[in-house]
Amino acid sequence: MKGVILAGGLGTRLAPLTKITNKHLLPVYDRPMIYYPIQTLVEAGIRDLMIVTGGNNAGDFLRLLGNGKQFGLPRLHYAYQEGEGGIADALRLAEPFAEGDRIVVMLGDNIVEKSIRKGVAAFRKQKRGARIFLKEVPDPRDYGVAEIRGNRIVGIEEKPRKPKSNYAVIGIYLYDHTVFDIIRTLKPSARGELEITDVNNVYIRRGQMQYEILDGWWADAGASPQKLLETNLLVARQKGVHIPCACS
Ligand code: G1P
Repeated sequence: MKGVILAGGLGTRLAPLTKITNKHLLPVYDRPMIYYPIQTLVEAGIRDLMIVTGGNNAGDFLRLLGNGKQFGLPRLHYAYQEGEGGIADALRLAEPFAEGDRIVVMLGDNIVEKSIRKGVAAFRKQKRGARIFLKEVPDPRDYGVAEIRGNRIVGIEEKPRKPKSNYAVIGIYLYDHTVFDIIRTLKPSARGELEITDVNNVYIRRGQMQYEILDGWWADAGASPQKLLETNLLVARQKGVHIPCACS
């Protein structure tokens, strides 16, 4: 299985922090944000990894990450996304890299506390289709939200005003090779992007979507300045650093 980390976008929700750099290069406690998804995939046994980025600061990824030596990798692959086509458009660029293999896709601003090994192993045993990770959150309106009946997902709504559950779809997706055929059938959404939620709904309609509930905390660090700060504190605490402050 190969890994793809999506690290493009303009990061407008974090402006002006993102005016002169890419969101995924911003600090999360003691390292750049992109380090965490790389570590998560490497820890899950992924050795072949592609970073998809874009914008004005793409060269900084190469300077920061090089061949991935600091993660124990022999090399890293890179692709450049022109324009702002959305998550599924960025993923499209990984087709020649995937070479028909299965892939695990992780959004470069998603940080998880614990290993995803179990879910990756379960997907290896799955005959075909896709597998996603869900996390119960108090207010899921900023995310893709799964509608669950029995033990099946019957649909996902992107940033719904009235969510049908509290289960957010987190930014780690396991796909078979048909994902690239699905992307070719997509039409841009109202925000002009090819949505990863539309990809997932095709797998659901085919009856080929399985899911895991994620172990430990999950942070969408790039969602807002508040989330970025909160993620910094979560990571610091996980590393045993006590930060005395007046905040609760
Ligand atoms: C994206 C996806 C959304 C998912 C979220 C997880 O949203 O579209 O379904 O729940 O990532 O981080 P974005 O944060 O890019 O708007």
